[in-house]
Amino acid sequence: MSMRIHRREFLSLGAAGLAAAQAPAAKAVKVGIVGVGNRGTSLLRTMLDLPAVEVPALCDINEANLARAVSLVEKAGRPRPQGYSRGMEDFRRLAAREDLDAVVTATPWEWHTPVAVAAMKAGKYAGVEVPAGLTVEQCWELVDTSEQTGKPCMMLENVCYFRNVLMVLNLVREGVLGEVVHCEAGYQHYIAGMQFTGDGGLSWRGVHALQSNGNQYPTHPIGPVAWWMNINRGDRFAYLTSMSTVSRGPRLYASRTFGADSPNARRTFAQGDINTSLIQTANGMTVTLYYGTQSPRPYDLIFRVQGTQGIYSGTLDKIYIDGRSPRKSGEPAWEDPAAYYQQYEHHLWKEMGQVATRYGHGGADYMTLAQFMDAVRHQRQTPIDVYDSATWSVIVPLSEKSVASRSAAINFPDFTRGKWKTAKPVAV
Ligand SMILES: NC(=O)c1ccc[n+]([C@@H]2O[C@H](COP(=O)([O-])OP(=O)(O)OC[C@H]3O[C@@H](n4cnc5c(N)ncnc54)[C@H](O)[C@@H]3O)[C@@H](O)[C@H]2O)c1
Repeated sequence: MSMRIHRREFLSLGAAGLAAAQAPAAKAVKVGIVGVGNRGTSLLRTMLDLPAVEVPALCDINEANLARAVSLVEKAGRPRPQGYSRGMEDFRRLAAREDLDAVVTATPWEWHTPVAVAAMKAGKYAGVEVPAGLTVEQCWELVDTSEQTGKPCMMLENVCYFRNVLMVLNLVREGVLGEVVHCEAGYQHYIAGMQFTGDGGLSWRGVHALQSNGNQYPTHPIGPVAWWMNINRGDRFAYLTSMSTVSRGPRLYASRTFGADSPNARRTFAQGDINTSLIQTANGMTVTLYYGTQSPRPYDLIFRVQGTQGIYSGTLDKIYIDGRSPRKSGEPAWEDPAAYYQQYEHHLWKEMGQVATRYGHGGADYMTLAQFMDAVRHQRQTPIDVYDSATWSVIVPLSEKSVASRSAAINFPDFTRGKWKTAKPVAV
């Protein structure tokens, strides 16, 4: 790319961007992607726009998806990447390539751990879509492999980089909310249709809903909560208890969409429509965590953060801080957070918010990948480390176990092996 900067580009770059553009070219990070379906393709598009990132290798068992991704790279004016599609384990050949610094995986859930483990064993950083593991054993395998190889594993939890999430992180760090004692959050997203293929068959998500009952997608809501509560860094999740409703949604969706006599309209799905978990931390804080993808409703991650000095509500996008926010008839009253954004906007949003918002999830996808690539480039620890990746993901099997045993309390493994007591809050 030419280093001459035109006036229009100069204006859109701003001072920080100009400095970066004039700095000596950063060493390119070389990444291979495994799984280029919906999400992998979106990650690829974003990566191709990130400075100094190259994608010389792509892997997918679906030849059409692979070909689409290969041509995307070529259309971006980059060298044609090598494609890997010789079966379910061909990602191992990709991981073994000498030229790669990192492997990112966006396959269905059950392949996340095998791909990440193969990447770390081959000396690469692992970037993993959510959740990073599906069983307690997989979560430990990620931790053990990362410790043995010295290679970081970052679950690419993009919700941690939402604008409101990072503003609230600043509120927490500055003590504005006081001590955070309770959070409520949930993945409430009506995506029942993603469990089915176009002809009414089951997709890989549908197979999970058929067989499992618990919180199958905990990391979007729990990642931000864990940052606000300093989980694995001064506190830790001690145990959870979980409950599910009856399962109605998948059958109703199949019946409405494919007909009352279609096979999946008559099937018995395991997954309850709404799953609710309660988590207790070692320091005595609590979290209420919801999982609801079957029932018609607008998207809402809730994000209620209750501190000893005040509260933030993501659903309402309102805030109340004792002594600062207004009162009505003597009672605490909600306040618009605009003034707090002015004062407590996170530096990442100040620096790259304008560019990032052109990409997925309101800009969070760009920031997540930028943070991952930054860690790879400088061979640093990733902001979401393997202990976070394992702790947030292990809610999947722990909630299933609790649901299956009348909501019995299930202990979290301490993946940090005691290091949570002295680890410092995450540097974002
Ligand atoms: N962070 C987010 O906001 C976000 C959003 C959407 C999806 N996701 C995650 O991304 C992942 C993929 O979801 P999706 O919606 O793109 O699914 P998808 O079905 O569209 O894509 C999965 C791709 O993986 C390929 N694949 C399957 N097994 C493979 C293997 N062994 N080796 C190589 N390729 C393989 C499939 O052929 C397909 O192309 C899931 O884990 C999902 O939870 C995350």
